[in-house]
Amino acid sequence: MENLSEFGLTQNPLDSFTSWYEQAKSVEQNPEAMTLSTIDSKLRRPDSRTVLFKGLKSGCLTFYTNYTSNKSRELESNNEAAILFYWHVSKRQVRVQGKVTKMSPEDSKAYFRSRDRQSQLASYISEQSSPIEDKSALMKKLSEASARFDGDEIPFPVNWGGFLFEPYEFEFFVYGDYRINDRFLFQKTQQGWAITRLQP
Ligand SMILES: Cc1cc2nc3c(=O)[nH]c(=O)nc-3n(C[C@H](O)[C@H](O)[C@H](O)COP(=O)(O)O)c2cc1C
Repeated sequence: MENLSEFGLTQNPLDSFTSWYEQAKSVEQNPEAMTLSTIDSKLRRPDSRTVLFKGLKSGCLTFYTNYTSNKSRELESNNEAAILFYWHVSKRQVRVQGKVTKMSPEDSKAYFRSRDRQSQLASYISEQSSPIEDKSALMKKLSEASARFDGDEIPFPVNWGGFLFEPYEFEFFVYGDYRINDRFLFQKTQQGWAITRLQP
């Protein structure tokens, strides 16, 4: 195979991802936005939504969410998931497949405390993905909590935290002229990462 460095890649997909992400940060508007796809085991349907990438931790991609949300319920019954980054200006796409586990409450709490007070409050009051009558009911919950904790720390919500997504497959894609795209597949094996070039 030709020199991966021509595409800003190395033999290691995590390093390659980091390098593409750093480049994306300098040109993209929302480089950390990623599409997370999970499986609803009961309905046997795929489900996708945007979440924010919050960095690598011990070789895993991290994101934070409500543990009683639909995505978390889906991950509870099937912890295999897919992540997609689409970087428009860079003409790049990264597809990742992996297994998801919950982050430790200590690490989740540390991140929670690093967020601004309004975001902490919003996470505290939202039963994410559950129905609510109307927006005013939500705003009432927010202002009540804001008044209750006035001057105090917002309690760390037990149903909120991070996930660690441990990748076993990456595809790095560069959009080419006339659909002659460059695609590199990295698959985790016992011997390390196997790399294959794919047709557009
Ligand atoms: C740009 C953007 C970033 C988002 N980031 C997050 C996030 O980091 N965590 C999160 O739980 N939801 C985030 N959301 C909301 C989710 O897309 C989704 O609406 C929510 O998590 C509920 O999904 P679920 O019902 O599948 O669990 C984001 C939405 C957008 C548009």
